[in-house]
Amino acid sequence: MPSTPLTRLDDIASLLAGSGTRLYGGEAISQLQHALQSAHAAEQAGASPALITAALLHDLGHLVCEQGDEDVTNGINDHHEAVAVHSLQHLFADEVLQPIALHVAAKRYLCAVQPGYHAALSPASQASLLLQGGVMSAAACQRFAARPWAADAVLLRHCDDLAKDPAASPPPLAHYLAIAANVLKATP
Ligand SMILES: [Fe+2]
Ligand SMILES: [Fe+2]
Repeated sequence: MPSTPLTRLDDIASLLAGSGTRLYGGEAISQLQHALQSAHAAEQAGASPALITAALLHDLGHLVCEQGDEDVTNGINDHHEAVAVHSLQHLFADEVLQPIALHVAAKRYLCAVQPGYHAALSPASQASLLLQGGVMSAAACQRFAARPWAADAVLLRHCDDLAKDPAASPPPLAHYLAIAANVLKATP
């Protein structure tokens, strides 16, 4: 697993405000815009502060890896959900980490169980699905749905899918960092 885990919220702010200005691969917006729009969608859906934070940070692994999101052109699955969890493990508890860990699996799950979901995915997200294991089997869907954080991961995924609008103007990063600060794990 690359890099050492982050230990300060300021590290996240630097990543998002710096590398986050890169394009969100295959989409017409930056990584930072995608993060903000995801968090905004979660906030508007009435999600908990922990899930809003998870939405903000779900693709942080792409920035840590310094790869483009949905790195389809290289035929590489960067396992960015696992990279994000590794990076954030000292800062947040499972209520933030687990929905992030499951957000790729949630896409594979929704493609299997929700009619029309796959067809509505962006072309980049449809292409990356193949690198991420494709549509889940029925047995895998049952196992996924039984996991403790599956419902939060599915909500995060819907927020993720909404967060690709070049014309959106979500609240600024400072608004969501303040929410994240309230769900930081207690220092050991
Ligand atoms: Fe992602
Ligand atoms: Fe995303």
